[in-house]
Amino acid sequence: ITQRGCIVQLPLRPNEQFYGLGLQFLSFAQRGKKKIARVNADPKFDTGDSHAPVPFYVTTEGIGILVDTSRYATFYFGDARPKPAHAVDSLDSVGGTNPDPDYTHGIRDGDSGQVTVEVPNADGVEVYLFGGPQMIDAVRRYNMFSGGGFVPPEWGLGFWYRMDARGTQRSTLALGGEFRESKIPCDVIGLETGWQTHAYSCTFEWNEDRFPDPKGFVSFAQGMNYKINLWEHAFTHPASPLFPEIAPRSGDYGVWGGLVPDFAGEPARAAFGTYHGKTFIDAGISGFKLDECDNSDYTGGWSFPECSKFPSGIDGEQMHNTFGMHYQMALWNEYRNRNQSTYNLVRSSGALAAPYPFVLYSDLYAHRDYIRALVNSGFAGLLWCPEVRDAVSEEDLIRRLQSVVFSPLAMVNGWYIVNPPWKQINRRLNNAGQLADGWQKLEARCREVIAWRMQLVPYLTAAFQRYAEEGIPPFRALVLDAPGERRLYAVDDQYMIGDRMMVAPLFAGEPSRQVVLPEGDWHDFWTGNAFKGGSQLSVPASTEKIPVYVKAGSIVPWADVGQFAGSPESRRITARVYGDGSLPFELIHDQSMMRLNWHKGKGSVTSASGYDVYAWQQLG
Ligand code: GAL
Repeated sequence: ITQRGCIVQLPLRPNEQFYGLGLQFLSFAQRGKKKIARVNADPKFDTGDSHAPVPFYVTTEGIGILVDTSRYATFYFGDARPKPAHAVDSLDSVGGTNPDPDYTHGIRDGDSGQVTVEVPNADGVEVYLFGGPQMIDAVRRYNMFSGGGFVPPEWGLGFWYRMDARGTQRSTLALGGEFRESKIPCDVIGLETGWQTHAYSCTFEWNEDRFPDPKGFVSFAQGMNYKINLWEHAFTHPASPLFPEIAPRSGDYGVWGGLVPDFAGEPARAAFGTYHGKTFIDAGISGFKLDECDNSDYTGGWSFPECSKFPSGIDGEQMHNTFGMHYQMALWNEYRNRNQSTYNLVRSSGALAAPYPFVLYSDLYAHRDYIRALVNSGFAGLLWCPEVRDAVSEEDLIRRLQSVVFSPLAMVNGWYIVNPPWKQINRRLNNAGQLADGWQKLEARCREVIAWRMQLVPYLTAAFQRYAEEGIPPFRALVLDAPGERRLYAVDDQYMIGDRMMVAPLFAGEPSRQVVLPEGDWHDFWTGNAFKGGSQLSVPASTEKIPVYVKAGSIVPWADVGQFAGSPESRRITARVYGDGSLPFELIHDQSMMRLNWHKGKGSVTSASGYDVYAWQQLG
């Protein structure tokens, strides 16, 4: 305990590497770095700032460590070291002269050292250690400690499209109709700011100029098998019907002329939640997009100050780091109380979030950083959506779309473009209504990519089932599955989905990419071509499909493509068999287990529970 707060020192082993601290965009392996667990929507430098800072990290020795604080804790990952203990007689006794500066700060490969964590303004802190033996076990236990992951509703794993912010009831339904006509599968349509009478801050009331009949609108959309998701943030406008109830339960500073609800206290959560339950959930709204629950006042934006006071007793710093989590709690409670499954978006989260049915997103847009965030999310009980908006080239659009359909939430966020990006990738021209010549060709390519998402749903669902039951992150870094392979320690642009599938996205503008194959035997998912693991492949940019590999022996269910998840087509399955098919596939559906087996060149299905496995395809 010091005047500044408290310090935790944890020993380190030589070569021990660590990962985590939440949704980091700018770095992966953390050894040798100093990081602050501080929420920020727009991290410009690799300081630790993040939409979802999580004071939890996991090491290649199979240990997970949670420092249970909502303060802006500083983590010195091996670079803060005790002073030298005694003088030496001569330089010769310690390796000789070295007139050039040693920029390693004394950290060398093979060194031990320590992790130092400083928690400001605290008389003490609880530290949880999660044992392995393997790294993945430590993460698993961390996730189970928070209640385990969850299985999204089937529609949540389909395709999502968010409307232009100026969208109306009429334009939204027209787009929904157009998707059905042009056979672009879609499950969820998201409404952006313009559905409300006032958006910054929010009134949480329908704007009846644009949506004259909200009830009719939602039920019409439902009739077309769409779910409706609503954008909002929590800052409560004085004209909102929620204002009188939230006012006494809010902080002493405002944002955008609205109240900051004291979500750390049950009364504000209950008032906010109850209103949303009665007004929206009971009216058929399937979920929300909880925007701006991070902040950006370090990067030229908006927020409430750290010295803010809240009736629950916490201050602005603590509120910042927990606002997103508490906001999620307020809304999720309403769905839980109704025994209704939901899947949502949120822009900030924190520690122990695995059970929350929310997926993170951002206004940042670097494709590579988006993939690094996805890889990092799996260390921290988080889910991440590398959403697609406009694009700098057709290739960029395709590559981004390919990644997002192999992610926790497959979404195009069209909030600032009037037309779908495949009609015009350029934002300005798109909004001017100038569609690209021959856009139908690009649309067809996008349709195919979106179809993959629909085909993947059974495999994805099975991966999420293990998240719920065993805490195994459905999307994760390669190193988590093979901490013994040092060559994977820096791989931050490839990831596993479930136990069998590995994705290595292509980035537009790069001539080719290297793919690292972990030890073992692998197959190209699309062609079945076999590869020996422990090697590297070079994939040329001309490759049409996203590079995906599966472990030899895998059986992967690949559904037929319907217009929405849960359509009759989605129940018709082709079982793709790789190599000797020795790894059966299991999925729980309608409370029974479907199992796909392959034995001596023949497939069999145990209890298909609503699925029709009508074809077996042997690949490789
Ligand atoms: C941003 C959000 C975007 C969009 C926009 C609307 O904060 O990240 O996705 O919703 O607000 O104003």
